Amino acid sequence: MTPVPSGFMISEEEIRAKVRELAARINADYKGRSPLLVGILKGAFVFLADLIREMDLPVEVDFIATSSYGHSTESTGIVKIIKDLNQNITDRDVLLVEDIVDTGLTLRYLYNLLLSRNPRSLEICVLLDKKERRKVEVPVKYVGFEVPDLFLVGYGLDYAEKFRGLKYIRALSPEEVKGG
Ligand code: PRP
Repeated sequence: MTPVPSGFMISEEEIRAKVRELAARINADYKGRSPLLVGILKGAFVFLADLIREMDLPVEVDFIATSSYGHSTESTGIVKIIKDLNQNITDRDVLLVEDIVDTGLTLRYLYNLLLSRNPRSLEICVLLDKKERRKVEVPVKYVGFEVPDLFLVGYGLDYAEKFRGLKYIRALSPEEVKGG
């Protein structure tokens, strides 16, 4: 067992079970198809890596990267694309994979952007949903955990680029946030 601090957390075991559950639903929903899973960098890379290894479909993977979350994003809702997809998604079954949905601004923007490229279908899968923070509606089909409004790190999520490699998810204490 990995020693973990007290406070809000989602354990490695809970994450593994949830990823399996989500993968099973996706496997069933996309049976006979070959979806393109689009990971939103950077946070989604760990979740996406585990998710595809629980899937039994011939999936393809691509990534899109947006500018880091900040106040300008919150006020305008415009997300800057740092790295676009490598491939055409016209007529593809696209599944956007994200670590966390917070205000919803990132996913709302990317969803509309990808929809404008005429995929065959477009759905969203998020591991964590900070529902109480939502500012814009996002059609999320697959949700792992609803989480409280705490600063969460681990399993791809960072604080100042640290903690992404934790096998579990936990809340940062106010002291840790202050201390940097
Ligand atoms: C986080 C997360 C989402 C976004 C969610 O990314 O990965 O992309 O914020 O917030 P929203 O719903 O309010 O738009 P972040 O900007 O921290 O970048 P990272 O994924 O590179 O860590």
